[in-house]
Parts: sequence; structure tokens; C-alpha cells
Amino acid sequence: MEIRELRAADAPAVFRSLLSDPEIAGWFRVDGAFTLAECEEMVARKVAHRAAHGFGWSLGWEGDTCLGWSVAQYCIIEGVSEVEIGWTVARSHWRRGIGTRLGRAALIEVASLGLDSVVAYTREDNVASRGVMTKLGMTYEKSFDFHGERHVLYRKPLPVSLDLGALDRLEDEHGDPAV
Ligand SMILES: CC(C)(COP(=O)(O)OP(=O)(O)OC[C@H]1O[C@@H](n2cnc3c(N)ncnc32)[C@H](O)[C@@H]1OP(=O)(O)O)[C@@H](O)C(=O)NCCC(=O)NCCS
Repeated sequence: MEIRELRAADAPAVFRSLLSDPEIAGWFRVDGAFTLAECEEMVARKVAHRAAHGFGWSLGWEGDTCLGWSVAQYCIIEGVSEVEIGWTVARSHWRRGIGTRLGRAALIEVASLGLDSVVAYTREDNVASRGVMTKLGMTYEKSFDFHGERHVLYRKPLPVSLDLGALDRLEDEHGDPAV
């Protein structure tokens, strides 16, 4: 699988492989499958997120076939700003480790942002997505209501961005660490 940044022109592939499938769409809303126009609108917003913030969504490809998406984006959970990671895989490819690979790609995407941690959330009954979270080393933090449904929040601490080695070297050179 090749993982590439999401582009506006990818909307038809997202529609075809993922969001025209009612079984996938059902995890995101109650109104059923998305239309192509809705996918275009959603993809445009996600592309704009990357342009604004320097990180964002990617797609996994096998040739011309879109296998799934990898999410890295800002979100607000119960009033708190977080960076979330996420994943969705075409139904024909479930249970082959692809969701976990897309999740790893999302972790790599956010690794250089200097965050203390990243979160992922899903509906409480989404056993498959919770399985991906666990495989990525995330741990359950709390349950909360989102759009009228019970959700679970998982978190993964990230290494601190501060380069302690560089700070030590600075201290050796100048006597005191830079403030
Ligand atoms: C959630 C989703 C992305 C998982 O993708 P996937 O490629 O099948 O996941 P993986 O193969 O990497 O599975 C990772 C682990 O999750 C668990 N898991 C995955 N699917 C499962 C299922 N149907 N039932 C129980 N556990 C499951 C397993 O522990 C699995 O590890 P294992 O296969 O070694 O036992 C996929 O089911 C999907 O796209 N679902 C619909 C959309 C969705 O829910 N997106 C996430 C919204 S938050």
C-alpha cells in the first residue's frame, strides 16, 4: 500500500471506495451513504486543513484503488482542543492490518508537531476501531457523548519535542541552559 497526501481530485475515490458504502457511512452519521457532492465538500475541507496547519489527511492506495484514509487533524473534545488520529478502510479489505498501518502513518504525520499526546475517538460499540487504537498503543481515557451517542476517547503520549541532548550541549558551552 502506498500512502499519499489527500488531494481535492481524490474525492471520487473516497466516494467510490469508502463513503458510498452505507456500512462505512453508518459509523459517521445516521443519514446513510454520502453523495459524491458531499465527498467533494468534505475532501475540500480536509485539504484546507493541511494547507492551513501543515498536517492532515492521507489516503492509502493499491494502484488506482483507494484502500482507506488516514486522519490527522485538530478536533475539540468536550471543549478541549486536541489532535486526533483516525482511519477507515474499504470493506473488501477489512481485517488485514490496513487500519493499523493507516493509523501508524497518522502517528508519523503528527510526530513532528511537538505534542504531548494524540487522541482517537469512536462510538463506544465500534469494536474494530477500538482494536486499532489498542494495537497502536493507545489507552482508554473516558467515555463522552458526541452527537447524542456514547463515544470513547483513547490517548497515546508522544515523546517530548524538547531535544534534551541539545540542551545539555548548550549548557556545556555556555554554563547555563537557554531559557
Ligand atoms: C475500523 C477499521 C478502520 C479497522 O480496519 P482494519 O483494517 O480492518 O483493522 P486491522 O486489520 O488493522 O485490525 C486491527 C485490530 O482491530 C481489531 N478488529 C478489527 N476489526 C475487528 C472486528 N470486526 N471485530 C473485532 N475486532 C476487530 C482486532 O484486534 C485487529 O487485530 P487482529 O486482526 O490482529 O486481531 C474498519 O473496520 C473500518 O473502516 N470500519 C468502518 C469505518 C470506521 O469505523 N472507521 C473508524 C471510525 S472512528
